[in-house]
Amino acid sequence: MNFNKLKKYTRIGLNKVKSNIQSRVFLRTGKWMPKAEKVQYTLSSKCNFRCKMCPSWEKGFKEKIEEYISKERMIELIDEMKTLGIREFCVTGGEPLLFWKDKIFPLLKHANQKGFYTHFVTNGYLLTKEILEEYNRSGGGHISLSLDALNAEKHDDLRGFQGAYQAFQKAVKVFNKGDYSNIKIKLNFVLSNENLDEVEKVINYAIKNDFLFFIQPFDLFDYQNRRTLKDKQKETNLWVQRKNYAKLRKVIKRLLELKEKHPEIILNSKKHIEDFYPYFTKELKDRTHNPCFGLIDRISIHPKGEVNACKFGKIYDLKKGSLTDFIQSPERKKFIQASLKCQIGCLIGCFYRPTFKDLLINGPRQLLKLVK
Ligand SMILES: C[S@@+](CC[C@H](N)C(=O)[O-])C[C@H]1O[C@@H](n2cnc3c(N)ncnc32)[C@H](O)[C@@H]1O
Ligand code: SF4
Ligand code: SF4
Repeated sequence: MNFNKLKKYTRIGLNKVKSNIQSRVFLRTGKWMPKAEKVQYTLSSKCNFRCKMCPSWEKGFKEKIEEYISKERMIELIDEMKTLGIREFCVTGGEPLLFWKDKIFPLLKHANQKGFYTHFVTNGYLLTKEILEEYNRSGGGHISLSLDALNAEKHDDLRGFQGAYQAFQKAVKVFNKGDYSNIKIKLNFVLSNENLDEVEKVINYAIKNDFLFFIQPFDLFDYQNRRTLKDKQKETNLWVQRKNYAKLRKVIKRLLELKEKHPEIILNSKKHIEDFYPYFTKELKDRTHNPCFGLIDRISIHPKGEVNACKFGKIYDLKKGSLTDFIQSPERKKFIQASLKCQIGCLIGCFYRPTFKDLLINGPRQLLKLVK
Protein backbone atom coordinates (compact mmCIF):
# COMPACT_ATOMS: atom_id res chain seq x y z
CA MET A 1 0.00 0.00 0.00
CA ASN A 2 1.33 3.45 -0.94
CA PHE A 3 0.71 5.65 2.14
CA ASN A 4 1.38 8.96 0.41
CA LYS A 5 -1.23 8.06 -2.16
CA LEU A 6 -3.62 6.92 0.54
CA LYS A 7 -3.15 10.25 2.34
CA LYS A 8 -3.70 12.28 -0.83
CA TYR A 9 -6.78 10.29 -1.90
CA THR A 10 -8.26 10.37 1.61
CA ARG A 11 -7.92 14.16 1.66
CA ILE A 12 -9.65 14.37 -1.71
CA GLY A 13 -12.37 11.95 -0.56
CA LEU A 14 -13.02 14.03 2.56
CA ASN A 15 -13.18 17.13 0.41
CA LYS A 16 -15.90 15.42 -1.64
CA VAL A 17 -17.85 14.52 1.49
CA LYS A 18 -17.56 18.09 2.78
CA SER A 19 -18.65 19.53 -0.54
CA ASN A 20 -21.57 17.09 -0.68
CA ILE A 21 -22.75 18.16 2.78
CA GLN A 22 -22.20 21.82 1.94
CA SER A 23 -24.19 21.52 -1.30
CA ARG A 24 -27.11 19.94 0.54
CA VAL A 25 -27.06 22.60 3.26
CA PHE A 26 -26.94 25.29 0.57
CA LEU A 27 -29.82 23.60 -1.22
CA ARG A 28 -32.00 23.73 1.90
CA THR A 29 -30.97 27.04 3.41
CA GLY A 30 -29.32 29.10 0.66
CA LYS A 31 -26.32 29.48 3.00
CA TRP A 32 -22.75 28.08 2.99
CA MET A 33 -22.36 28.00 -0.81
CA PRO A 34 -19.52 25.61 -1.79
CA LYS A 35 -16.50 27.05 -3.57
CA ALA A 36 -16.27 24.14 -6.04
CA GLU A 37 -14.32 20.98 -5.58
CA LYS A 38 -13.39 20.12 -9.15
CA VAL A 39 -12.39 21.87 -12.36
CA GLN A 40 -13.08 20.22 -15.66
CA TYR A 41 -11.11 21.68 -18.52
CA THR A 42 -12.30 21.09 -22.09
CA LEU A 43 -9.08 21.91 -23.81
CA SER A 44 -10.43 21.73 -27.35
CA SER A 45 -13.42 20.33 -29.20
CA LYS A 46 -11.23 19.06 -32.03
CA CYS A 47 -11.22 15.32 -32.45
CA ASN A 48 -9.87 12.51 -34.60
CA PHE A 49 -13.14 10.52 -34.30
CA ARG A 50 -16.65 11.28 -35.58
CA CYS A 51 -18.84 9.65 -32.95
CA LYS A 52 -22.52 9.41 -33.82
CA MET A 53 -23.62 10.68 -30.42
CA CYS A 54 -21.17 13.52 -29.96
CA PRO A 55 -21.49 17.17 -31.00
CA SER A 56 -17.84 18.02 -30.17
CA TRP A 57 -16.00 17.11 -33.33
CA GLU A 58 -18.15 19.34 -35.53
CA LYS A 59 -17.77 22.20 -33.09
CA GLY A 60 -14.02 21.61 -33.29
CA PHE A 61 -13.94 22.57 -36.98
CA LYS A 62 -14.88 26.12 -36.09
CA GLU A 63 -12.39 26.58 -33.26
CA LYS A 64 -9.14 28.46 -33.85
CA ILE A 65 -6.26 27.07 -31.80
CA GLU A 66 -4.71 30.54 -31.49
CA GLU A 67 -7.82 31.67 -29.61
CA TYR A 68 -7.50 28.97 -26.94
CA ILE A 69 -6.53 29.93 -23.41
CA SER A 70 -2.76 29.54 -23.08
CA LYS A 71 -0.94 26.86 -21.13
CA GLU A 72 0.71 29.59 -19.02
CA ARG A 73 -2.66 31.07 -18.03
CA MET A 74 -3.97 27.59 -17.20
CA ILE A 75 -0.93 27.02 -14.95
CA GLU A 76 -1.73 30.26 -13.12
CA LEU A 77 -5.31 29.08 -12.76
CA ILE A 78 -4.23 25.72 -11.34
CA ASP A 79 -2.20 27.61 -8.71
CA GLU A 80 -5.26 29.70 -7.94
CA MET A 81 -7.42 26.56 -7.67
CA LYS A 82 -5.02 25.23 -5.07
CA THR A 83 -5.37 28.41 -3.00
CA LEU A 84 -9.13 28.13 -3.29
CA GLY A 85 -9.11 24.57 -1.96
CA ILE A 86 -10.10 22.92 -5.24
CA ARG A 87 -8.57 19.43 -5.27
CA GLU A 88 -9.53 17.77 -8.55
CA PHE A 89 -8.47 18.67 -12.08
CA CYS A 90 -9.73 16.84 -15.11
CA VAL A 91 -9.07 17.31 -18.82
CA THR A 92 -11.51 16.39 -21.54
CA GLY A 93 -12.33 17.40 -25.09
CA GLY A 94 -12.63 16.78 -28.04
CA GLU A 95 -9.72 14.45 -27.95
CA PRO A 96 -7.21 15.68 -25.34
CA LEU A 97 -4.38 13.45 -26.54
CA LEU A 98 -4.13 15.49 -29.75
CA PHE A 99 -2.52 18.09 -27.48
CA TRP A 100 -0.59 15.86 -25.08
CA LYS A 101 2.99 17.13 -25.37
CA ASP A 102 2.42 20.84 -25.57
CA LYS A 103 -0.47 21.33 -23.24
CA ILE A 104 -2.12 18.44 -21.45
CA PHE A 105 0.88 16.75 -19.97
CA PRO A 106 2.48 19.96 -18.60
CA LEU A 107 -0.86 20.85 -16.99
CA LEU A 108 -1.53 17.42 -15.49
CA LYS A 109 2.05 17.24 -14.26
CA HIS A 110 1.81 20.67 -12.65
CA ALA A 111 -1.52 19.81 -11.03
CA ASN A 112 -0.12 16.53 -9.70
CA GLN A 113 2.88 18.36 -8.26
CA LYS A 114 0.49 20.69 -6.49
CA GLY A 115 -1.29 17.74 -4.90
CA PHE A 116 -4.40 17.62 -7.09
CA TYR A 117 -6.16 14.43 -8.05
CA THR A 118 -6.05 14.42 -11.85
CA HIS A 119 -7.65 12.49 -14.67
CA PHE A 120 -8.35 12.78 -18.36
CA VAL A 121 -10.83 11.32 -20.83
CA THR A 122 -9.79 9.80 -24.13
CA ASN A 123 -11.00 7.64 -27.00
CA GLY A 124 -7.68 5.78 -26.64
CA TYR A 125 -6.55 6.04 -30.25
CA LEU A 126 -3.41 8.02 -29.39
CA LEU A 127 -2.67 6.39 -26.03
CA THR A 128 0.89 5.06 -26.07
CA LYS A 129 3.40 3.51 -23.71
CA GLU A 130 5.28 6.85 -23.59
CA ILE A 131 2.15 8.76 -22.52
CA LEU A 132 1.35 6.16 -19.86
CA GLU A 133 4.91 6.28 -18.56
CA GLU A 134 4.98 10.08 -18.41
CA TYR A 135 1.62 10.28 -16.67
CA ASN A 136 2.50 7.52 -14.24
CA ARG A 137 5.82 9.20 -13.37
CA SER A 138 4.10 12.54 -12.81
CA GLY A 139 1.85 10.98 -10.17
CA GLY A 140 -0.96 9.70 -12.40
CA GLY A 141 -4.62 9.56 -11.45
CA HIS A 142 -7.13 7.87 -13.67
CA ILE A 143 -7.73 7.69 -17.40
CA SER A 144 -11.32 7.46 -18.59
CA LEU A 145 -11.28 5.36 -21.71
CA SER A 146 -14.40 5.35 -23.85
CA LEU A 147 -15.83 2.01 -24.84
CA ASP A 148 -19.36 1.70 -26.18
CA ALA A 149 -19.36 -1.96 -27.20
CA LEU A 150 -17.18 -5.04 -27.05
CA ASN A 151 -18.40 -5.87 -30.50
CA ALA A 152 -15.78 -4.31 -32.79
CA GLU A 153 -18.21 -3.44 -35.57
CA LYS A 154 -20.67 -1.83 -33.16
CA HIS A 155 -18.00 0.22 -31.39
CA ASP A 156 -16.54 1.41 -34.70
CA ASP A 157 -20.01 2.30 -35.95
CA LEU A 158 -20.91 4.30 -32.82
CA ARG A 159 -17.51 5.97 -32.81
CA GLY A 160 -17.73 6.85 -36.51
CA PHE A 161 -14.23 5.54 -37.02
CA GLN A 162 -13.06 2.32 -38.58
CA GLY A 163 -10.39 0.83 -36.34
CA ALA A 164 -11.61 2.51 -33.15
CA TYR A 165 -12.10 -0.82 -31.42
CA GLN A 166 -8.74 -2.15 -32.54
CA ALA A 167 -7.10 1.01 -31.20
CA PHE A 168 -8.93 0.61 -27.89
CA GLN A 169 -7.71 -2.99 -27.56
CA LYS A 170 -4.17 -1.93 -28.43
CA ALA A 171 -4.25 0.74 -25.72
CA VAL A 172 -5.50 -1.78 -23.13
CA LYS A 173 -2.80 -4.25 -24.15
CA VAL A 174 -0.08 -1.62 -23.69
CA PHE A 175 -1.51 -0.65 -20.32
CA ASN A 176 -1.82 -4.23 -19.08
CA LYS A 177 1.74 -5.03 -20.16
CA GLY A 178 3.33 -2.21 -18.18
CA ASP A 179 3.56 -1.39 -14.51
CA TYR A 180 1.56 1.82 -14.09
CA SER A 181 0.82 1.67 -10.42
CA ASN A 182 -0.28 5.32 -10.28
CA ILE A 183 -2.86 4.97 -13.03
CA LYS A 184 -6.29 3.44 -12.86
CA ILE A 185 -8.35 2.84 -16.00
CA LYS A 186 -12.04 3.67 -15.94
CA LEU A 187 -14.26 2.62 -18.83
CA ASN A 188 -16.81 5.22 -19.96
CA PHE A 189 -19.83 3.71 -21.65
CA VAL A 190 -22.52 5.80 -23.36
CA LEU A 191 -25.81 3.92 -23.13
CA SER A 192 -28.05 4.21 -26.18
CA ASN A 193 -30.66 2.27 -28.08
CA GLU A 194 -27.87 0.77 -30.15
CA ASN A 195 -25.80 -0.86 -27.44
CA LEU A 196 -28.26 -2.15 -24.84
CA ASP A 197 -26.93 -5.66 -25.46
CA GLU A 198 -23.37 -4.60 -24.74
CA VAL A 199 -23.63 -3.22 -21.20
CA GLU A 200 -23.14 -6.44 -19.28
CA LYS A 201 -20.33 -7.59 -21.57
CA VAL A 202 -18.44 -4.36 -21.01
CA ILE A 203 -18.94 -4.55 -17.23
CA ASN A 204 -17.61 -8.11 -17.19
CA TYR A 205 -14.67 -6.92 -19.23
CA ALA A 206 -14.03 -4.15 -16.67
CA ILE A 207 -14.18 -6.69 -13.81
CA LYS A 208 -11.81 -9.05 -15.61
CA ASN A 209 -9.26 -6.29 -16.20
CA ASP A 210 -9.68 -4.65 -12.79
CA PHE A 211 -10.91 -1.43 -14.41
CA LEU A 212 -13.54 0.95 -13.07
CA PHE A 213 -16.78 1.45 -15.00
CA PHE A 214 -19.09 4.39 -15.52
CA ILE A 215 -22.25 4.42 -17.63
CA GLN A 216 -23.65 7.60 -19.06
CA PRO A 217 -26.99 7.71 -20.87
CA PHE A 218 -26.88 9.27 -24.31
CA ASP A 219 -27.75 12.96 -24.12
CA LEU A 220 -29.13 15.24 -26.81
CA PHE A 221 -28.03 18.37 -24.94
CA ASP A 222 -31.40 19.92 -25.71
CA TYR A 223 -31.08 22.87 -23.38
CA GLN A 224 -33.91 24.74 -25.07
CA ASN A 225 -36.16 21.83 -24.19
CA ARG A 226 -37.81 21.84 -27.59
CA ARG A 227 -38.11 18.13 -28.29
CA THR A 228 -40.87 15.80 -27.20
CA LEU A 229 -40.10 12.15 -26.54
CA LYS A 230 -41.44 11.28 -30.00
CA ASP A 231 -39.16 13.90 -31.57
CA LYS A 232 -36.15 12.42 -29.81
CA GLN A 233 -37.00 8.90 -30.95
CA LYS A 234 -37.63 10.08 -34.50
CA GLU A 235 -34.54 12.25 -34.67
CA THR A 236 -32.06 9.58 -33.71
CA ASN A 237 -31.96 5.84 -33.32
CA LEU A 238 -29.63 6.40 -30.36
CA TRP A 239 -32.58 7.42 -28.20
CA VAL A 240 -34.15 4.26 -26.77
CA GLN A 241 -37.03 3.29 -29.06
CA ARG A 242 -40.43 2.21 -27.72
CA LYS A 243 -39.96 -1.41 -28.85
CA ASN A 244 -36.86 -1.62 -26.64
CA TYR A 245 -38.37 -0.37 -23.36
CA ALA A 246 -38.59 -3.92 -21.96
CA LYS A 247 -34.97 -4.49 -22.87
CA LEU A 248 -33.98 -1.22 -21.20
CA ARG A 249 -35.79 -2.32 -18.04
CA LYS A 250 -33.85 -5.59 -18.04
CA VAL A 251 -30.54 -3.78 -18.56
CA ILE A 252 -31.27 -1.47 -15.63
CA LYS A 253 -32.26 -4.39 -13.40
CA ARG A 254 -29.03 -6.18 -14.29
CA LEU A 255 -26.99 -3.02 -13.77
CA LEU A 256 -28.44 -2.63 -10.29
CA GLU A 257 -27.62 -6.25 -9.44
CA LEU A 258 -24.07 -5.79 -10.65
CA LYS A 259 -23.79 -2.49 -8.75
CA GLU A 260 -24.83 -4.35 -5.58
CA LYS A 261 -22.15 -6.96 -6.21
CA HIS A 262 -19.36 -4.66 -7.41
CA PRO A 263 -19.95 -1.19 -5.92
CA GLU A 264 -16.24 -0.40 -6.10
CA ILE A 265 -16.17 -1.03 -9.88
CA ILE A 266 -19.45 0.51 -11.02
CA LEU A 267 -19.15 4.14 -10.05
CA ASN A 268 -22.72 5.28 -10.80
CA SER A 269 -25.00 5.65 -7.82
CA LYS A 270 -28.07 3.39 -7.73
CA LYS A 271 -30.27 6.46 -8.04
CA HIS A 272 -28.49 7.51 -11.22
CA ILE A 273 -29.02 4.05 -12.76
CA GLU A 274 -32.68 3.92 -11.67
CA ASP A 275 -33.32 7.25 -13.35
CA PHE A 276 -32.24 5.92 -16.76
CA TYR A 277 -35.69 4.44 -17.35
CA PRO A 278 -37.83 7.59 -16.93
CA TYR A 279 -35.08 9.56 -18.66
CA PHE A 280 -35.43 7.55 -21.88
CA THR A 281 -39.14 6.79 -21.76
CA LYS A 282 -41.02 9.75 -20.27
CA GLU A 283 -41.76 13.31 -21.28
CA LEU A 284 -39.88 15.86 -19.20
CA LYS A 285 -43.07 17.09 -17.58
CA ASP A 286 -43.84 13.57 -16.33
CA ARG A 287 -40.47 13.05 -14.69
CA THR A 288 -39.50 13.96 -11.16
CA HIS A 289 -36.65 16.40 -11.18
CA ASN A 290 -33.69 16.11 -8.85
CA PRO A 291 -31.92 19.31 -7.90
CA CYS A 292 -28.97 19.77 -10.21
CA PHE A 293 -25.60 20.10 -8.49
CA GLY A 294 -23.81 20.73 -11.78
CA LEU A 295 -22.87 24.30 -11.12
CA ILE A 296 -22.41 24.12 -7.36
CA ASP A 297 -19.26 22.12 -6.92
CA ARG A 298 -17.82 21.98 -10.45
CA ILE A 299 -16.36 24.55 -12.73
CA SER A 300 -16.22 23.82 -16.40
CA ILE A 301 -13.58 25.72 -18.38
CA HIS A 302 -13.96 25.71 -22.15
CA PRO A 303 -11.29 26.07 -24.86
CA LYS A 304 -11.10 29.87 -25.00
CA GLY A 305 -10.99 30.13 -21.22
CA GLU A 306 -14.67 30.74 -20.75
CA VAL A 307 -16.49 29.25 -17.78
CA ASN A 308 -19.38 27.52 -19.41
CA ALA A 309 -22.51 26.39 -17.66
CA CYS A 310 -24.71 24.07 -19.72
CA LYS A 311 -27.95 25.84 -20.69
CA PHE A 312 -26.65 29.22 -19.50
CA GLY A 313 -23.69 29.13 -21.90
CA LYS A 314 -20.66 31.34 -21.25
CA ILE A 315 -20.88 32.94 -17.84
CA TYR A 316 -17.34 34.23 -17.22
CA ASP A 317 -14.04 34.84 -19.00
CA LEU A 318 -10.93 33.49 -17.29
CA LYS A 319 -8.62 35.15 -19.80
CA LYS A 320 -9.71 38.43 -18.26
CA GLY A 321 -10.84 37.72 -14.71
CA SER A 322 -9.66 35.59 -11.82
CA LEU A 323 -11.19 32.37 -10.59
CA THR A 324 -11.47 33.85 -7.10
CA ASP A 325 -13.55 36.75 -8.40
CA PHE A 326 -15.76 34.37 -10.33
CA ILE A 327 -16.32 32.10 -7.32
CA GLN A 328 -17.27 35.04 -5.14
CA SER A 329 -19.37 36.78 -7.75
CA PRO A 330 -23.10 37.33 -7.22
CA GLU A 331 -23.58 36.09 -10.81
CA ARG A 332 -22.30 32.64 -9.83
CA LYS A 333 -24.76 32.49 -6.97
CA LYS A 334 -27.53 33.54 -9.35
CA PHE A 335 -26.70 30.78 -11.86
CA ILE A 336 -26.44 28.19 -9.11
CA GLN A 337 -29.83 29.14 -7.73
CA ALA A 338 -31.33 28.89 -11.21
CA SER A 339 -29.64 25.52 -11.82
CA LEU A 340 -31.10 24.07 -8.63
CA LYS A 341 -34.56 24.64 -10.04
CA CYS A 342 -33.72 23.55 -13.56
CA GLN A 343 -36.22 21.21 -15.20
CA ILE A 344 -34.12 20.10 -18.17
CA GLY A 345 -33.52 16.76 -16.48
CA CYS A 346 -29.96 16.06 -17.64
CA LEU A 347 -28.43 12.84 -16.44
CA ILE A 348 -24.90 13.94 -17.26
CA GLY A 349 -22.82 11.80 -14.97
CA CYS A 350 -20.47 14.48 -13.79
CA PHE A 351 -23.50 16.56 -12.79
CA TYR A 352 -25.00 13.71 -10.79
CA ARG A 353 -23.97 13.34 -7.20
CA PRO A 354 -23.74 10.13 -5.19
CA THR A 355 -26.09 10.05 -2.23
CA PHE A 356 -24.50 10.78 1.11
CA LYS A 357 -25.00 7.13 2.08
CA ASP A 358 -23.29 6.03 -1.13
CA LEU A 359 -20.32 8.28 -0.37
CA LEU A 360 -19.93 6.87 3.12
CA ILE A 361 -20.43 3.21 2.25
CA ASN A 362 -18.96 2.85 -1.23
CA GLY A 363 -16.53 5.79 -1.05
CA PRO A 364 -13.99 3.97 1.16
CA ARG A 365 -14.17 0.84 -1.04
CA GLN A 366 -13.54 2.92 -4.14
CA LEU A 367 -10.72 4.72 -2.38
CA LEU A 368 -9.01 1.44 -1.48
CA LYS A 369 -9.35 0.31 -5.08
CA LEU A 370 -7.64 3.49 -6.27
CA VAL A 371 -4.68 3.25 -3.88
CA LYS A 372 -4.16 -0.52 -4.24
C1 LIG B 1 -16.84 14.34 -25.32
S1 LIG B 1 -15.84 12.97 -24.91
C2 LIG B 1 -14.21 13.66 -24.84
C3 LIG B 1 -13.12 12.67 -24.56
C4 LIG B 1 -12.75 11.66 -25.62
N1 LIG B 1 -12.75 12.20 -26.92
C5 LIG B 1 -13.61 10.42 -25.51
O1 LIG B 1 -14.41 10.18 -26.41
O2 LIG B 1 -13.45 9.72 -24.53
C6 LIG B 1 -16.16 12.72 -23.16
C7 LIG B 1 -17.15 11.60 -22.88
O3 LIG B 1 -18.43 12.04 -23.31
C8 LIG B 1 -19.09 10.95 -23.91
N2 LIG B 1 -20.12 11.46 -24.80
C9 LIG B 1 -19.99 11.96 -26.01
N3 LIG B 1 -21.17 12.33 -26.54
C10 LIG B 1 -22.10 12.06 -25.60
C11 LIG B 1 -23.51 12.20 -25.54
N4 LIG B 1 -24.20 12.70 -26.54
N5 LIG B 1 -24.13 11.82 -24.41
C12 LIG B 1 -23.44 11.31 -23.37
N6 LIG B 1 -22.11 11.16 -23.37
C13 LIG B 1 -21.44 11.51 -24.47
C14 LIG B 1 -17.96 10.21 -24.61
O4 LIG B 1 -18.28 8.87 -24.92
C15 LIG B 1 -16.85 10.31 -23.60
O5 LIG B 1 -16.87 9.22 -22.72
S1 SF4 C 1 -13.95 10.65 -29.54
FE1 SF4 C 1 -14.84 11.82 -27.87
S2 SF4 C 1 -14.81 13.98 -28.49
FE2 SF4 C 1 -14.36 12.72 -30.27
S3 SF4 C 1 -16.28 12.59 -31.31
FE3 SF4 C 1 -16.08 10.79 -29.98
S4 SF4 C 1 -16.98 11.31 -28.01
FE4 SF4 C 1 -16.72 13.17 -29.20
S1 SF4 D 1 -30.07 20.00 -15.30
FE1 SF4 D 1 -28.20 21.00 -14.55
S2 SF4 D 1 -26.67 20.51 -16.09
FE2 SF4 D 1 -28.68 20.17 -17.04
S3 SF4 D 1 -29.19 22.10 -18.07
FE3 SF4 D 1 -30.10 22.13 -16.03
S4 SF4 D 1 -28.59 23.21 -14.75
FE4 SF4 D 1 -27.57 22.51 -16.58
